[in-house]
Amino acid sequence: MPLSADEIKELHKYEYRILNSLEWLMKKYLWVPEDVLRKSTKLSESEMKYRLGRLMEMDMVKSSTKPYTGYQLVFKGYDALAISSLVTKGTLNALGSLIGVGKESEVYEALGLGVLVIKIHRVGQRSFQSVRLNRSYIPEWKHFPWLFASMESAKMEFTALSTLQKGGVSVPVPIAINRNVIAMSFIPGLNLNQVTLEEPQEIFDEVVENLAKAYRLGYIHSDLSEFNIMVDGEKVWLIDWPQWIEPSHPNADTILRRDINNLVNYFSKKYGLAKTTDEVINLVIG
Ligand SMILES: Nc1ncnc2c1ncn2[C@@H]1O[C@H](COP(=O)(O)OP(=O)(O)OP(=O)(O)O)[C@@H](O)[C@H]1O
Ligand SMILES: [Mg+2]
Repeated sequence: MPLSADEIKELHKYEYRILNSLEWLMKKYLWVPEDVLRKSTKLSESEMKYRLGRLMEMDMVKSSTKPYTGYQLVFKGYDALAISSLVTKGTLNALGSLIGVGKESEVYEALGLGVLVIKIHRVGQRSFQSVRLNRSYIPEWKHFPWLFASMESAKMEFTALSTLQKGGVSVPVPIAINRNVIAMSFIPGLNLNQVTLEEPQEIFDEVVENLAKAYRLGYIHSDLSEFNIMVDGEKVWLIDWPQWIEPSHPNADTILRRDINNLVNYFSKKYGLAKTTDEVINLVIG
């Protein structure tokens, strides 16, 4: 179920207190025991029951009765904490409509200082192994690999956007990161697959130039396709970077080849462009 801005706005301060306590206590418990949660939140028994009831109705918290009564945060509760932090810090004023749902993310239009995009990373149980893990965090989050992996995924994308943008690659401007959520500038364009280009050769060359710049900065996209390239008339943007790898990665050659193949195939099928994958790889790696 997508996140509702109204639900987040209407969360009571006691509900935030519960979400914050759960987040903290989940580093220690798979299911946070009721009495431990009470002590941490300092709420009366009836208040806590009522607030937990609401949070469970909103799918932000879930409970278990075995082996004891306990609670844990689920994705929506975690998202709510991240979004509300971005609001408190002044990054975000309003959450707008959902503009993209992927396997592992939800993307919203939003308002801050101008129009923004909020990308919520949700790396599920199946794929968390593929995320590069930062060892210092694992023990704390060992019960919740999906939560940890989602934070790492957001960090990976934020790091890439920061370096690439400073290095002159055309990507969204990263604005803020909190937990599994990043805020970035809104791109006033369409995905490449949604348009028919008038000057496909120019756009193709611009994509290749940006890939070459990214490669020199140490970044291979790893999920390049017409769905992760945006265009607006003349200008091109490369989006969706959480799975980037370094050129020194053991599979870098294969992964770069796959990226370039996707690009070359798309432009040759749709526009009859004649460059080969090997020619383009040579342009990218210089
Ligand atoms: N900065 C942005 N400005 C405008 N639109 C964006 C921006 N970022 C993403 N979008 C839109 O949202 C869609 C989804 O975003 P993105 O590609 O980053 O994630 P995803 O494809 O859902 O991720 P996953 O790879 O996990 O499936 C994009 O295809 C694009 O249409
Ligand atoms: Mg995408």
